[in-house]
Amino acid sequence: MRGFVGRKLTIVAALMATTGLAQAEDVEVLHWWTSGGEAAALNVLKDNLKSQGIGWVDMPVAGGGGEAAMTALAARVTAGDPPTAVQMLGFDITDWASQGALGNLNAVATEGGWDAVVPTALQKFSKYDGNWIAAPVNVHSTNWVWINKAALDAAGGKAPQNWDELIAVLDKMKANGITPLAHGGQPWQDATIFDGIVLSEGNDFYKAAFIDLDPAALGGDQMADAFNKLITLRGYVDDNFSGRDWNLASAMVINGEGGMQMMGDWAKGEFLKAGKVPGVDFVCIRFPGTQGSVTFNSDQFAMFNVQGEGKQAAQAAMAKDIMDPAFQSAFNVVKGSVPARTDVPNDAFDDCGKKGMVDLAEANTAGSLFGSMAHGHAAPAAVKNAVYDVVTGAFNGTYPDGATAAAALAEAVAAAQ
Ligand code: GAL
Repeated sequence: MRGFVGRKLTIVAALMATTGLAQAEDVEVLHWWTSGGEAAALNVLKDNLKSQGIGWVDMPVAGGGGEAAMTALAARVTAGDPPTAVQMLGFDITDWASQGALGNLNAVATEGGWDAVVPTALQKFSKYDGNWIAAPVNVHSTNWVWINKAALDAAGGKAPQNWDELIAVLDKMKANGITPLAHGGQPWQDATIFDGIVLSEGNDFYKAAFIDLDPAALGGDQMADAFNKLITLRGYVDDNFSGRDWNLASAMVINGEGGMQMMGDWAKGEFLKAGKVPGVDFVCIRFPGTQGSVTFNSDQFAMFNVQGEGKQAAQAAMAKDIMDPAFQSAFNVVKGSVPARTDVPNDAFDDCGKKGMVDLAEANTAGSLFGSMAHGHAAPAAVKNAVYDVVTGAFNGTYPDGATAAAALAEAVAAAQ
């Protein structure tokens, strides 16, 4: 008995030595990973922490893209009771950091050598004022299309490479009696499609409009063309699209009711959860006309200022766990994303995952890797929400044409800054 207790104490002491802090308490984690594929990925993280004796207190806030989660977070922080760790995207992280709300992960980051292995594009959001404030768990990207293989074969079998080919395939799918474009009419989903369309207008254009927020690009002819394309796509969704959750749109493609979904690679998590295999049951392509470029978003776990050494030890232990290369592989294989470290082998990934890793590395080298507007990596929330309003308006017929929508976009973005 004494021997057992002694061993246990040695393990606890070893854990305290590695974290450099007190014994870790349970972690309370706010997140929006509630779909089947997302929950399966989250379990990989939960189990990993559990194996180190760290318990998980779940705070799920449903709603793809995380808008509802961010509202819930603001309420908790205002009440002076932030959760231990929070799933967060891009500018939301640095916005909270600028308010002094986040803790400091420098000790664990230095010990783990994060500076050398996390891509600079991600570090922009994981660090603030030179200090590590969040641990990136993945890199997703939004310019993907997920196509039912049988539906594609019935529509001629060739994956579309450009806009005209895309429209030809959608028309054939319509003629074949299925819903060509499975879509959920929620602002963030409309905006996710729009990321791909704007990127397909060219790298310089995406950067000018969505990263630099150049009024001429936001309100000009190319943006008008992008909106006209969005309005055209509206003609390929079914009557019940409004308000539909993204994973239900994925399910339509999985079961063949829908032909394709334009969605980030978290959609792949749903296909995998349903037992579907890339290249056999479904096909993954970049949004037509965007091969070579990537609009990315990275889920990170930001650690808030919490009182008590036990809670801080839990934050350090969780951050260390997230950055473990073996965990990054296991988690991202299930989630549909790719690792947030550059040194993780691709062996365990399926063909779409391998493609995602190659595409990301190539875009990073070529200077064609951009933050996703729809997912908080191109501009702060106020601008993103202004874009959502106009894009959703355009998708739902608010504007007579693309040029009117583009003018409204330039105005809305200017007002939001
Ligand atoms: C994204 C997030 C993904 C996925 C998706 C749908 O913003 O980065 O991890 O969860 O929302 O919920």
